[in-house]
Amino acid sequence: MSRSPSAPGPLAGRRILLIVGGGIAAYKALDLIRRLRDRGAAVRPLLTESAQEFITPLAAASLAGERAHTDLFDRESEAEIGHIRLARDADAVVVAPATANMMARMATGHAPDLAATVLLATTLPILIAPAMNVRMWLHPATQRNLATLKGDGVAVVGPNEGAMAEAEFGPGRLAEPHEIADALEAMLVQRSEPRDFGFLAGREVPKKLAGRHVLVTSGPTHEAIDPVRYLANRSSGRQGHAVAAAAAAAGARVTLVSGPVTIPDPAGVAVVRVESARAMLAAVEAALPADLAVFAAAVGDWRPAETRDAKIKKDGHAPAPLALVENPDILATISARAEGRPPLVVGFAAETDAVLDNARKKIARKGCDLIVANDVSAEGGVMGGSENTVHLVARDGSVETWPKLDKEEVGRRLVARFAALLEARRG
Ligand code: C5P
Repeated sequence: MSRSPSAPGPLAGRRILLIVGGGIAAYKALDLIRRLRDRGAAVRPLLTESAQEFITPLAAASLAGERAHTDLFDRESEAEIGHIRLARDADAVVVAPATANMMARMATGHAPDLAATVLLATTLPILIAPAMNVRMWLHPATQRNLATLKGDGVAVVGPNEGAMAEAEFGPGRLAEPHEIADALEAMLVQRSEPRDFGFLAGREVPKKLAGRHVLVTSGPTHEAIDPVRYLANRSSGRQGHAVAAAAAAAGARVTLVSGPVTIPDPAGVAVVRVESARAMLAAVEAALPADLAVFAAAVGDWRPAETRDAKIKKDGHAPAPLALVENPDILATISARAEGRPPLVVGFAAETDAVLDNARKKIARKGCDLIVANDVSAEGGVMGGSENTVHLVARDGSVETWPKLDKEEVGRRLVARFAALLEARRG
């Protein structure tokens, strides 16, 4: 990508800490340094011990125009610039190539050297460009680590598919330097704030929701047919849980009313577990008052008219038709409260078609203040997936569409938006 000097891109004036892992692809890190500098960034290289088997600190330093850092107990470096400063003194961290070993360290918080220590200490946005043998990449352990890292807010570029050094073919090749630079630009445009882990809530994340009580519903409901069977909606709970986590990180007291899910409880959140829609409504009402209520649960619209106490037997006859009755609409019930309605009530709309039209109708029908709409048709992979493209639909019908983001980032952005809306209402 070339740019005229009059149109500086997102990397202009940015300081990038480039951590170079070991592996044959390390040589491409040198080209990456050059490209990042071409786009106006200042690059500080940090080479792991195994990276130095492939490229020298001198080569990296010459291209970067500043010294290359190398290991944790480098007295000179520690005196001059400690690892904590290295972890803070930049706008973003890029790890290229990120080896399987490096990803495992990052995912588990194991920090035996300078690179891993810096990665553990930093709250800057991180982009990793994995490169490894195809079997190592596809190994469940690496894929687990990848999922963990994404969950921690780490952005990933590549790996690309292609022929590998060991005469194998598949994903594992380091993304090209220009692709890494593009991904870094995209990340810097998307993420201007530090990754807000719950454990940092008290320090680095602006506590925009301090003193507020936030109520979130998440996950599916289960409507019992008999002791072993139930009706349910598809929902992993990931988006609702991410909103709850982000609200806690922003300083709110959070009550998360969750249907049955398999994902962990977010840190710093009071979780009330329920199964049915009626139990969810009761838990929501018990949790009020709240300053903000976000209804992200996929609540069953109907439940069996009757729940059998004993398992229905398969006795050779066609089963009796399942009579259904309507469940209470929790969002509509809370939105319509004359007393104790939260000042900001947000609904979700999962649609498979006519997303915006349906969301506009829904906001009027339900009486909420804002709808977060998304397309859950099979093509999008939103259901159970890690990413989401959302549209914010306001009461006046106006729509704001966000780019495809991971669900944690959607959660953080939604919370920032809700905080601003609450502040505007107060002011
Ligand atoms: O009508 P629909 O289910 O598409 O509406 C989705 C929105 O309404 C979501 O915010 C969901 O949490 C909420 N809802 C609810 N109670 C229901 C059905 C939906 O709170 N019974």
